[in-house]
Amino acid sequence: MSDPAALLTIDRVVKTFGRHRAVDGVSLVVRRGEFLTLLGPSGCGKTTILRMIAGFEQPDAGTIAIDGRTMNGVPPYRRPIGLVFQNLALFPHLTVGENIAFGLRVRRQAADAIAREVGEALALVELAGFADRRVHELSGGQRQRVALARALVIRPAVMLLDEPLGALDLKLRRQLQLELKSIQQRTGTTFIFVTHDQEEAITMSDRIAVMNGGRVEQLDSAHTVYNRPATAFVATFVGDTNLLTGRIVGLDGGAAQVSVPTLGRDVPGAGAAGMRVGANVLLSIRPENVRAADPSLPWRMEGRVVEVVYAGAAHRYTVAAGDARLLVAAPASPGTPPLSPGARIDLAWRADDAMVLDATPTNHVP
Ligand SMILES: Nc1ncnc2c1ncn2[C@@H]1O[C@H](COP(=O)(O)OP(=O)(O)OP(=O)(O)O)[C@@H](O)[C@H]1O
Ligand SMILES: [Mg+2]
Repeated sequence: MSDPAALLTIDRVVKTFGRHRAVDGVSLVVRRGEFLTLLGPSGCGKTTILRMIAGFEQPDAGTIAIDGRTMNGVPPYRRPIGLVFQNLALFPHLTVGENIAFGLRVRRQAADAIAREVGEALALVELAGFADRRVHELSGGQRQRVALARALVIRPAVMLLDEPLGALDLKLRRQLQLELKSIQQRTGTTFIFVTHDQEEAITMSDRIAVMNGGRVEQLDSAHTVYNRPATAFVATFVGDTNLLTGRIVGLDGGAAQVSVPTLGRDVPGAGAAGMRVGANVLLSIRPENVRAADPSLPWRMEGRVVEVVYAGAAHRYTVAAGDARLLVAAPASPGTPPLSPGARIDLAWRADDAMVLDATPTNHVP
């Protein structure tokens, strides 16, 4: 099935270094104008995928196509892409303006057109007036903005960004996340962004491809990846979760009753369509979805507060229930002090908030 919005198609791509499969059969479609993030732990193959899209590495198998045109064999400088990498240095001997103009000069554009485009690109990244500055006179954040302007000025079909904010402190990083997203929306450029920071991925992306061990485990909106993780790896990598080992004892469509030995009872879960009674599963429940003493739920189990992990906008508790330890995040209401260790707390969750996941072990589940 071809996606009419497809701009870049990666089809069954494999890349091996020595005996190590860095990219192990990745297929994904990037849509025109979207902000797509490759998210995953160090070494999972994110940079290798970008380098193959850029043409610095050749796939051992599979194809990469942009706008329906296969890129296999096309040299990097002939690909319609812009690059911003964490360590992609600006030319130190050139001014900011000359750095940005570089790609246009290579393409032999007229001087007045170049001046206009450089001016527009500088305005876009909010560095109007910086054209004559030297690179060493810029802060880290300003340098990354120049790198972005330099890549955008040639109007690439696809921008590849490999941890471009990785070297910046948290405050600047948050600010540039918003700016980058806004520039992407204003220019309508397709962005493929790499990060291993799940918060950054959720803030910025239209869709997230969660990678693990050279494969894509899930490609979905940030909302779906968080609320409907497809695998135990995705559930644990994107946000905090409680993972309980159990066995399906009742099934009605996607709704399941799961017997959890550590809790010593059956509990409800969702997303089990296609599974069978008797299957070994993992149940993933986000801390904020474990409800304390919620009368609207048809069941509850007794727990005891072991630790108050953090008290801010939400109280975060570790609660002992049976032999299990559950993380519970309860919204803090003004004037109500948090529960103390030893206090009893009744817990439950909505069936829809507990995802039933295949427990088939992979090497990568942490
Ligand atoms: N040129 C190379 N030669 C040998 N092995 C390589 C080469 N490039 C990457 N690898 C290996 O391939 C795997 C994937 O590397 P890659 O750089 O794509 O990971 P990554 O997801 O970008 O990680 P990080 O978040 O640390 O940047 C790693 O195990 C890495 O050691
Ligand atoms: Mg990398």
